[in-house]
Amino acid sequence: NVEIKVDSVLALMTLEEKVGQLVQYNGSWDLTGPASQMNNKQKEENLKAGKVGAMLNVLSVEATREAQKLVMENSRLKIPLMFGYDVIHGYTTIFPVPLAETASWDLEAMKRTAAIAALESAANGVNWTFSPMIDVSRDARWGRIMEGSGEDPFLTAKVAVAKIKGYQSDDLSNPKSIAATAKHFAGYGFGEAGRDYNTVHIGENELHNTILPPFKAAAEAGVATFMNAFNDIDGTPATGHKILQRDVLKRDWNWDGFIVSDWGSIPEMIAHGFAKDKMQAAQIALNAGSDMDMEGGAYESSLVELVENDKVTLDYIDDAVKRVLRVKFKLGLFDDPYLYSNVELLEEISFEEHKNVARDVAKKSIVLLKNENELLPIKESVKKIAVIGPLADDKDTPIGNWRAQGEANSAVSLLEGIQANINENVAISYAKGADLGMGERSFLMPLKINETDTSGFQEAINTASEADLVIMALGEDAFQTGEGRSQVNVGIAGVQQELLEEIYKVNKNIVLVLINGRPLEITWASENIPAIVEAWQLGSESGNAIADVLLGNYNPSGKLPVSFPRAVGQEPLYYNQKSTGRPSNPEHVTYSGYTDEKKDALYPFGFGLSYTTFEYGNLELSSEEMNNDQSIQASITLKNTGDVEGKEIAQLYLRDLVASTTRPVKELKGFEAVSLAPGESKTVTFEIDEEMLQFYNANRKWESEEGEFEVFIGGNSNDLKKASFTLKK
Ligand code: IFM
Repeated sequence: NVEIKVDSVLALMTLEEKVGQLVQYNGSWDLTGPASQMNNKQKEENLKAGKVGAMLNVLSVEATREAQKLVMENSRLKIPLMFGYDVIHGYTTIFPVPLAETASWDLEAMKRTAAIAALESAANGVNWTFSPMIDVSRDARWGRIMEGSGEDPFLTAKVAVAKIKGYQSDDLSNPKSIAATAKHFAGYGFGEAGRDYNTVHIGENELHNTILPPFKAAAEAGVATFMNAFNDIDGTPATGHKILQRDVLKRDWNWDGFIVSDWGSIPEMIAHGFAKDKMQAAQIALNAGSDMDMEGGAYESSLVELVENDKVTLDYIDDAVKRVLRVKFKLGLFDDPYLYSNVELLEEISFEEHKNVARDVAKKSIVLLKNENELLPIKESVKKIAVIGPLADDKDTPIGNWRAQGEANSAVSLLEGIQANINENVAISYAKGADLGMGERSFLMPLKINETDTSGFQEAINTASEADLVIMALGEDAFQTGEGRSQVNVGIAGVQQELLEEIYKVNKNIVLVLINGRPLEITWASENIPAIVEAWQLGSESGNAIADVLLGNYNPSGKLPVSFPRAVGQEPLYYNQKSTGRPSNPEHVTYSGYTDEKKDALYPFGFGLSYTTFEYGNLELSSEEMNNDQSIQASITLKNTGDVEGKEIAQLYLRDLVASTTRPVKELKGFEAVSLAPGESKTVTFEIDEEMLQFYNANRKWESEEGEFEVFIGGNSNDLKKASFTLKK
């Protein structure tokens, strides 16, 4: 039994050794933030002395073996290290960025890609990923929106569980699986004005109803670790937040893993103005339940003294250490510290097979936003195609940010994908038209966007004017999203919009393929360009997957996990908003809207077209009344009314009309993928039970309240069939 083993190790430990387990060192310098001032020599000495519990960014079998050996051959108790890394959407094989992958709504596929990422990581010595990021994020300006699952807590929770199961499998000690991290606990996706690391102003109601559900689902799914967050929430930095960490997560949810800080987030409480020095920051963080200090240097310098001075109790230290040991036991590290530093595993891997999975999930992640006059899929009559745009032959941008060991320039570009998959009778010409990003591109440095150089336009215009069809690849550089990449503009950056408009003047048969990590403002394109395909940053197999969709080898089935705005001034924008007291009055201005723009999304949450059409019949409820202990069924007939086979994601939404706190106008509560042949119909049935009606209410409890509920089913959050029932208590 793990608990007996944990206790028996704990009983042997000195206070210094206990504190050591709560310290995490970075293995290379300045990788994801300013590193502590400690030099490598000193770190090495501390590893040998058993003063370190885990490392991050130590990569490869050799490097992890090397570091593990320092501990196993020199320290008194030989407690193995864990090795963490940001394996966010693949390790070597790169899958779509998480926001894109969520657009597939395919939980099995997402579990599979996590399992592959785990296998490739484990084969390189990494036994712990800082993923999934399950911050609900509703602001397109926030650069890290690409790392999450978008604006909806229900969908984010489902993805969280799928990813955790994929990374961890059913048995953490399986050397092909690794520990996962639910991050960032909590509220990081709600930074004011979409600015990274910024203050969060949410209240208790929003915290419990919107932000915490994915984390609760992760805790229940047995995620091994949590990471706290850089931001403060309503005055308290998340890293020093006792209610969140100790009361909600550890006590109420009874979760037994450990919480790692974000990079340096413990000493950052000094800059927050919440602690006067490192000593006080360590005291606040540990007392609040933050178990491990990632590269902050606060626990190693202060915890022993804090315990000796009764500022931190030994009970709290023991609890934190037990949590760390428990995960190490579960990972199988006490049985074999080198379990994950095993070259044979690497030799077993079929990267070819992983590529096939990458292509499969990438094509499922593509969302068809517009397809006027059925311009897509590309018809046989099209003999000359011009492929244009800064991202058309870009082999790097589809790899996205947080690319782990995904090699630079290793993706199949859109141009390559088209060339490799199209009928040889079709002539393909290519012109870049313009650069997007200029100069050095790296994780830490700001990206310089080309705002002025249009010297490539003429060649692109000439190429486009001779073609039957133009495929334009525009969007964002990989380093326009990710950590620290917030933007005040979310349009198609630099000279790209101008290029699009110039090409449109000479050839209107344009398929716009967007390659990006955040929802974009594409209002002009949506009014003028006949076909728009949201292809995100799809990873290693990007170009092939896009070709699969453009050529009709795969009928697009993706649905947006985030709302696309009409104007950036609408942000944060999300479908599950509150009604307000003045929801609409188109007659005059005194209602909750804008005078210069509509208030709804250009493309709403859940939206995505297909090459076929689907018709939803009437929504039928099995009863118009529901008692507390009963459930009712909501059914609808879905018909494929087009000419080709297609897959539709049918979505269920609910609304609680009157409640003890204001409730969203609708909330996603279920979804089902339905594949239909032309002319085929199926009845989709969702079960609605009392638990689905619960929310964190005025009693500060998860309860349902009696009264009327509306039920909606449809193919996106806007276009829905409706019925209603009454809950009786
Ligand atoms: O895991 C990340 C986190 O999401 C942001 N700060 C750095 C960590 C480790 O690289």
